[in-house]
Amino acid sequence: MERFANHVVIVTGAASGIGKAATLLFLEERARVVAVDLNKSGLDALSEDVPTGHRDRFLPFLADVINLDQVEQMVRSVVDRWGTINVLFNNAGIEDTDSVTDTTEEMWDRQITVNLKSVFACSKFVLPQMQKTGHGVIVNTGSIEGIVAEPRGAAYVASKGGVVMLTKEMALTYASDNIRVNCVCPGWIDTPMARRSIDKHGGLEVMMPEIRRLQPLGRLGTPVEVAKAVLFLSSDDASFITGTTLMVDGGYTAQ
Ligand code: NAI
Repeated sequence: MERFANHVVIVTGAASGIGKAATLLFLEERARVVAVDLNKSGLDALSEDVPTGHRDRFLPFLADVINLDQVEQMVRSVVDRWGTINVLFNNAGIEDTDSVTDTTEEMWDRQITVNLKSVFACSKFVLPQMQKTGHGVIVNTGSIEGIVAEPRGAAYVASKGGVVMLTKEMALTYASDNIRVNCVCPGWIDTPMARRSIDKHGGLEVMMPEIRRLQPLGRLGTPVEVAKAVLFLSSDDASFITGTTLMVDGGYTAQ
């Protein structure tokens, strides 16, 4: 499939996990992809993984998505280089969370800022470009934890609940500009972030029975399975879909 030939796509959190899988899939479907991350070595590794035939359509960009100056500069560079922006995938995120009583103010601020303010920051500078051209698509990465809570996840759950609601607000506000805004909510996906959390809880062998119980398909999802949902929402196949939350969670939230 080549649903994104000549489309310009920005992916945040592109150096790892879900963002990396989405970057490679968008490139496969002929998009021009701007891969944004603050992890320089991760971006370098991603650049090496990009097949030679796609490299002229690949632009790694080192930026912290919570820094509005850096985001504005990134968006300006993309527009200077490629003239337009068709898709923004707001995906960068972190998980360092605990109960309210065990969360420091610094942890709270960082969690909410990276997971939620980043969506505001990137959208703020990309939306005017999309308004100019009269079309555009934004996909945000929420989480099952934007829909159902888990104990000791205070700031993470709050940030992802915020992403789900901000998705709906942006969908309503920019519908008249022909801009669609949707959200994917992954369950447990096998990425470095999930592995860090699994390791904290005793490793995969210890956690697997619990993951099987919570996720009826009985396994971790893969980054590519989430990326495919992101590409669907970003494509014309989803032309009448906006303001929605697509669960990619192996049935986690069905029970
Ligand atoms: P990951 O840790 O593998 O990748 C996240 C990427 O975001 C990293 O490359 C990191 O450097 C980048 N990043 C973090 N803060 C940044 C910042 N301020 N500026 C620029 N880049 C930044 O994580 P994963 O699993 O791929 O997560 C992607 C998204 O999916 C996150 O929003 C996460 O909350 C969400 N998610 C992940 C789930 C999972 O099970 N892996 C489940 C539900 C949601």
